[in-house]
Amino acid sequence: MARLGLEKSIVDKDTYERTLKRLGEGGVVLPTLAQLRDPSTVPAAIRSRLASVEPDAAHPLNLFRVHWFNDASRTGLAAVPGHLVLPSDLTGVPARIVVALGDRFPMIHAHKVLAAYGCLVPRVVTGQFDPTRHRAVWPSTGNYCRGGVAISRILGCRGVAVLPENMSKERFDWLERWVQTSSDIVRTPGSESNVKEIYDACAAMDRDPANIIFNQFCEFGNYLVHRTVTGAALERLYRATAEGRPASRLFAFVSASGSAGTLAAGDHLKEKLGARIVAVEAAECPTLLWNGFGEHNIQGIGDKHVPFIHNVMNTDVVAAVSDRATDTLFALFNTEVGRRYLVERHGLGAELVASLGHLGLSGLCNVLASIKTAKYFDLGPDDVIVTVATDGSAMYGSELEKTLRVHFRNRFDAVAAGETWGRSLAAVATDNLLELTHAERKRIFNLGYFTWVEQQGVTLPEFNARASQSFWDGLLSLVPAWDAMIGEFNARSGGAAAAGA
Ligand SMILES: Cc1ncc(COP(=O)(O)O)c(C=O)c1O
Repeated sequence: MARLGLEKSIVDKDTYERTLKRLGEGGVVLPTLAQLRDPSTVPAAIRSRLASVEPDAAHPLNLFRVHWFNDASRTGLAAVPGHLVLPSDLTGVPARIVVALGDRFPMIHAHKVLAAYGCLVPRVVTGQFDPTRHRAVWPSTGNYCRGGVAISRILGCRGVAVLPENMSKERFDWLERWVQTSSDIVRTPGSESNVKEIYDACAAMDRDPANIIFNQFCEFGNYLVHRTVTGAALERLYRATAEGRPASRLFAFVSASGSAGTLAAGDHLKEKLGARIVAVEAAECPTLLWNGFGEHNIQGIGDKHVPFIHNVMNTDVVAAVSDRATDTLFALFNTEVGRRYLVERHGLGAELVASLGHLGLSGLCNVLASIKTAKYFDLGPDDVIVTVATDGSAMYGSELEKTLRVHFRNRFDAVAAGETWGRSLAAVATDNLLELTHAERKRIFNLGYFTWVEQQGVTLPEFNARASQSFWDGLLSLVPAWDAMIGEFNARSGGAAAAGA
C-alpha cells in the first residue's frame, strides 16, 4: 500500500487511453501545478467560463479554483491569497501573525482539496488510475477525503472516504451529500489520532485491485503540491504584507501537521526567505515532541505517527497546543457573547472579530503555536510569522455545542469569555516547544521507521533517503515533468478544446 507516487512516464497505456476518453467526454481539463501556483496564467477562455460556475458545484472547471487566490466571493481572483493579519491587541505579541485562509477553496471550503488533487493528478497522467474501472480511496481524518470525493465526482468515478467515526458531524453530512452511495463512507474506529486503524482498513481494501488508495501520508504529490503551490502562494502573501516595511523578515512558517503536506510549504519558504519551520501537534498527542500518543480534538492533525512525506531533517521547531485551548477559544470566537467580549473588553474591531470565524480548530492551534513561537524567540514588530487556517468554523458547529456543554455547562457568559481569554490566549507560554537539535531531528526521523518500514512495507533505502535534503530538492524535477504530461493529456483528451482553452 505504500505507493509513493514518484513516476514520471506512462505506466499503463491502456489505462491511460481509457482515462483520456472518459475525461475528454466529461469535458474535464486538468490544471497544471504551474497554473495553480499562479492562476492568472489560466487561459482567459477558462477563466471567463469559470465566472459563472458556482464554487461549490461538482463542475470540472472548479479544478481551476483549487488554489489560494480565490477572492472573498470565491468566484474571482485576488492578487494576494485571502488572509488575516492578527493584531497585537489580540495575540499579545508584537510580531505580526499572518494567517492564510483555506476556506476559500472550492467545494469543501478547506485547502485539503489541493492535496487530493496533488495525489491524484500524477496517477491520472501516468496511467495508474482508471476512472472507468477503479474506485479512488481517500484515507483521511475528514478534509482530504472530502477533497478526494469531490474530485472523484468531477472525474465521474467512485470515491471512497475512509475516516474515523468520531470526526465532526459536519464532515459526515457533507460526505453523505457527495458520495455515490452511503457505503462509500467507511467509518474506522476512534477519532483524530487513530490513523493506524485507517491504514488497516485501507490495507484490507487494497487487496481488491479495483481500489486505488491515495495515501496522503506517503504520496509525494501531496508534498510537491504544497511545496510548489502553497509555498509560492504564501511567499506572495508574505511579500505583500512586507511591502513598505524594509526591516520586515519572515521569521517562521507555522503549520500543524496531519499528513505533513502543508508543512512542505515551509521548505519553499525556508529556501526563498530563510523562514524557520515550526511543526505543530496536539499537546494531548505529542508524538513529534515526546514520542507520545493520545486522544485529542484538533481535527485534521496529530495522527500518532511521523508521516513519510514529512521532511523532518528540515524542521526547526516542534510545538504542541492543547485541544482544551482550541475548543474554548473556538467558543470565544464563535459565540455572540464571546464576540461582544472581544469588542467591548479588548477594543478589537467588529470586522476583525467577525473574521475570526475563518479559523477552524487547527487554524486556532496554528495561531496559538505562532504566539508561542513569537514568545519563545522574543520576536519584535519587524518579525512575521505566516501560518494557515486549513478550514473555517463552518465544519465545527456540532463541536461548539459539545464544548459549551462539556467545558462551560451550557453557560458561556461574559465571565466564561474572560476566563477563556485569560487561560487559552493570554496565558500562552513557551512550554511544549522544542527547538530541534540535530539529535532531536534524528530521534523524530527514526520514529517513522516503525510505521513505514515495519508496518507499511517501505524499503529501508527508500526510508533512509529522506534524511538528505538533496532527496527532497530532487523531487522538484517531477513538477515540470508532470505539468508537461498534464498539458499533453489535455491536448489528447480533447477536454481543453471542449473547455475553449
Ligand atoms: C482541519 C485540518 N487542519 C490541518 C490539517 C493538516 O494538514 P496536512 O495534512 O497538510 O498536514 C488537516 C489535514 O487533513 C485538516 O483537515
